[in-house]
This record gives sequence, structure tokens and C-alpha cells, in this order.
Amino acid sequence: MACTCVVGLQWGDEAKGKIVDLLTDQHDIVIRFNGGANAGHTVVQAGKTFKFSLLPTGVLKPHLTSVIANGVVVYPPRFLEEVNNLRAAGISIADNLLVSDHAHVIFPYHLEEERLNEQGSSQAIGTTGRGIGPCYQDKVGRGCGVRLGELLYPDHLRTRLHAIVPRKNQLLRALDSGARGFDPDTLCDEYLGHAEKMRPHITDTTRLLLQAIKNGKRALFEAAQGSLLDVDHGTYPYVTSSNSTTAGVWSGSGVPARNLNRVVGVIKAYTTRVGRGPFPTELNDGKDGIGERIRQTGREYGTVTGRPRRCGWFDAVAVRYSAAVSGADELAVMLLDVLSVAKEISICTSYEWRNRRLEDFPSDAFILDECRPIYETLPGWETDLTHCRRLADLPPAARRYVERLSQLLDLPVSIISVGPDREQTVFC
Ligand code: GDP
Ligand code: IMO
Ligand code: MG
Repeated sequence: MACTCVVGLQWGDEAKGKIVDLLTDQHDIVIRFNGGANAGHTVVQAGKTFKFSLLPTGVLKPHLTSVIANGVVVYPPRFLEEVNNLRAAGISIADNLLVSDHAHVIFPYHLEEERLNEQGSSQAIGTTGRGIGPCYQDKVGRGCGVRLGELLYPDHLRTRLHAIVPRKNQLLRALDSGARGFDPDTLCDEYLGHAEKMRPHITDTTRLLLQAIKNGKRALFEAAQGSLLDVDHGTYPYVTSSNSTTAGVWSGSGVPARNLNRVVGVIKAYTTRVGRGPFPTELNDGKDGIGERIRQTGREYGTVTGRPRRCGWFDAVAVRYSAAVSGADELAVMLLDVLSVAKEISICTSYEWRNRRLEDFPSDAFILDECRPIYETLPGWETDLTHCRRLADLPPAARRYVERLSQLLDLPVSIISVGPDREQTVFC
């Protein structure tokens, strides 16, 4: 049994894609178990950049099996577009890519529902606009949820859409009297067309994964989003709609959690967040401030939406919590090179809340919003790290910073990343 999960321990974009890519060689199957095309995972190989939103990063290696498991929500046009883009880039995609027949399907009315919910609302989450929330709502609500396997049965799909779409049109009109409506037959024809193209990939992935693991295959689970965006354990309601901690592995793939024997917690050497929600260590220090310098140096703009990411110092209180919830065994510290822009580097070690000192993370957004960070400050190194390949190549101040993170989180650091390319990596 040799199953690994790569999980983000902050609010997403920790560079999970790079770590999954580095670990693929030690595994036979790569599995996405949560989220959908809200994810944006980047892999850079020999200067060539690949971006994945719905597909597992493993598809770059055609000899591996890549699985989109039942916990993922699938927008068929995006699936087909991503497959086509990769094929155009020379990546072979055939029966190495499998999608669960139990994965739920995103329809255009989900995108519209999300747009109407988000626009001008004081309750807006700042979502990626990919229909993720409304699709998961329909999954849990049961009446309107459609699974991918249902798309393979034309008569059945038509009957279901004739029941669902009028209800959806009513809902959309209630949200906005001018909302666009949808025609069940047009949608049905469109989705039957997508299903025909996806048919070779659709299967019972739960059975396949359980059998593969029984046969000694090594599975690598690729979490999307970050643990602090988990719907149960994150900063609710400013979260995504799935379990982005390792908790999602079991329900989202059918593989019991006891099979996981390595959990790699991925952290940025600082913190970023896209969308709304509390962020105690956020740096709002103007266009010449350190927050903006981190954003420019780290190219901190959303992979999916292009939105500027909010940037701030590393928050050890938050990550102590998320590492515990996700059961991290080790840490991969990413984008350390970006902190070369700072003369001094702060780490948040506790919070102040209503004149009290908090050592534990309050994951309730309304409490976290009132927390002020208490920092300790370490000297920076102010030299380029992007050519470092061994621990000894790092300047003493950079080594000290990583050691301090390890100490505060009480976890060993196994990987340090000093640039986007897979070569720009220090194995500890
Ligand atoms: P993910 O969603 O967790 O896979 O992360 P993203 O791909 O959204 O964001 C991480 C970004 O940082 C990508 O553009 C990566 O190419 C880039 N990146 C990864 N590791 C490093 C690193 O060590 N240094 C720098 N400067 N960039 C990195
Ligand atoms: P990866 O896998 C960063 C954020 C959105 C928003 C909230 C809810 O690349 O780390 P959603 O569209 O999921 O309903 O939006 O979650 N979010 C992410 N932030 N990285 C991601 O994915 C994200 N996926 C969703 O910005 O705040
Ligand atoms: Mg990302």
C-alpha cells in the first residue's frame, strides 16, 4: 500500500500542481477527488507551461492512469476543451484518462445561477464563476442533480431535463426577472453530443481504484483548492463547496482513508487568497509596499480568473490547524525565492482577539475577521535563490526561515521550491 495525497494547507494556489508533477514518477494513478474547473494547477517542465483546471496533472504522463473521481463536478465543454488543448500540445490522451460515472454534471443554468447570486450581493463569496456551488447544491439536494453516467442514456436524460429545466428557469427568473431561460431539448441535444465524445472515458472509477489498490498500484491524490477553503473545515462561508482537505479523499473517490500512508502538505512561504473572506496577515501596504512586491515577483494572479491574489505573511496559526485537519506528514515549502524581495520577513505565531491572545485558529469567518496577527520577525536574505538545488546552496537566513516554519508547525520539510520549473527544487 503506497498512496499519497498532495494537499494545499492555505487558501489554494500553494503550487500543488508542481508537487504532484514531481511525485507522479513514484505512482501509477493520479486522482482528482474534489472541486472542478475552479482549480488552476500549473506545471512547468523545461520552460514549457501547462495549466490544468479539471484534468489531473498526471495526464502529462500518458503511461499513468489519470482519474476524475466521483467527488468532482464536471463541466463537459471544459473537459473537452482541456483534452483538445493538451492534444494540440502533443500530449497523448486516450484510455489513460477516466472520469467517474458518478461525478455530477455542471449545466449552463448552474453558471447563470451563480452569476445572479454573486452579482452585487453583499453575500458574495467572490467565486470563480464556474458553476461549482450551484452544482454541488443540486447534488446534495438530489432532485435536480445529474450524474455523468446519466448522459449515456438519451431517453432518460431527456426525461430528467424536462423535469429539471423548467424548475431552474423559475428559480433564475425569481433571482432576476430578466434572467435568461433554457430549453430542455436544446440542452439535452448539446449534452448528448458532449457525452458521445466523453463516452470512452466514462466508467465506474470507484471499482477501478479499489481493484488497482488491491493489486498494489500506487495512487496519488491531487487535492484542488486549499484546506482553508474546505466547506466543513475552512473559513465558512468564504470557502468552496467541496472537501478540499484529505477528508475529501474517501467520499470523493471511494478509497478508504486508511490507504493513505503519505500526506504532503503544500505551503507557500507566504500566504495568498483569491476571493473574499478573512485574511489576518494580508498586506495592504500600497503600491510600493511588500504586499505588492510579493504579488509582482510571485506573479500572484489567479490561474483561472486572472484576478490579483491578495498577498500576506505566512500564518502559522492557520497552517498548524489545516495541517492537523489534513493529517500532513511532511511539508513542501513553495515559492521561497519570492521572499528574496523582503529585507525582513514576518511570521504570524498567534492572534489577538478582543484583548485575548489566541493560539488556536478560529475557522469561523466572523471571529477570524476580528483577529489581529502577532508576528515574530526574521532577517531576510535578499539574494536570488532560483539557482539553488541543494540545502547547502541556500543562504543561512533562508535555511533559518524554513527551519522556523518547520519548528512552528512541528513537521519536517521534505521539499523546498525556488522557482516554477521542476528543476528548481531542493529535496531535503
Ligand atoms: P496550485 O493551484 O496549488 O497548483 O498553484 P497555482 O498553479 O495556481 O499557482 C502556483 C504558481 O506558482 C504557478 O504559476 C507556478 O508555476 C508557480 N510556482 C510554483 N513553484 C514556484 C516557486 O517555487 N517559485 C516561483 N517563483 N513560482 C513557483
Ligand atoms: P486551486 O486548486 C484559489 C476560491 C475562490 C473563492 C472560493 C469559492 O488552483 O488551488 P468557487 O468557485 O470554488 O465556488 O469559489 O474559493 N477558490 C480558489 N482559490 N485556488 C483555487 O484552486 C480555488 N478554487 C476556488 O476564489 O474565494
Ligand atoms: Mg491554482
